Amino acid sequence: MFDFIPEEAVWAILIIVIIYLLKVILSPAKDFVPTKVVQKPVYEKRDYSLEEIKDFKGIDETKPIFIAIKGKIYDVTAKKTTYGPGGSYHLFAGNDATVCLAKSSFEEVDLNQPWTNQSLEELTADQKDSLKNWIDFFSERYTLVGNVKTE
Ligand code: HEM
Repeated sequence: MFDFIPEEAVWAILIIVIIYLLKVILSPAKDFVPTKVVQKPVYEKRDYSLEEIKDFKGIDETKPIFIAIKGKIYDVTAKKTTYGPGGSYHLFAGNDATVCLAKSSFEEVDLNQPWTNQSLEELTADQKDSLKNWIDFFSERYTLVGNVKTE
């Protein structure tokens, strides 16, 4: 039936199949490693002060990761690799990122910068646009936790 296949090739294929089957049969069963189950952090949906959210940076894995933007707090725990320790945007975690996002800045001075509606009016048109786009991004993608409580 397979006359067109040279006999050597048939033998070669047969040997490969036998070696593969022997490998499968003889290799020791891999130890069962249970995957680490990380419980989704439970938290109250309420207003938090900026002081309170400092604990929500992803350092304590039992707590969620929050970011405050223009008076709203978002739960970004779903993106732990981005916002948790070692993540590219960990800087924003547990902080008010309003001015950083408006100015495309990673500078400490812009983090938790106390803004007012009036100070945001002084941003350039591009910065206002950028902030608006980020707010749209966060509100579409992440759960709103509450407002920033003003003490
Ligand atoms: C050279 C400039 C930049 C590069 C190459 C860059 C690259 C990236 C990449 C690859 C992502 C996707 C990350 C992920 O999904 O894990 C991302 C997301 C993001 N970037 Fe940047 N970025 C830059 C500048 C900035 C600046 C200046 C800001 C604000 C200050 C910023 C804020 C963000 C934020 C908030 C996200 C969203 C992460 C999320 O929630 O999914 N980026 N960026």
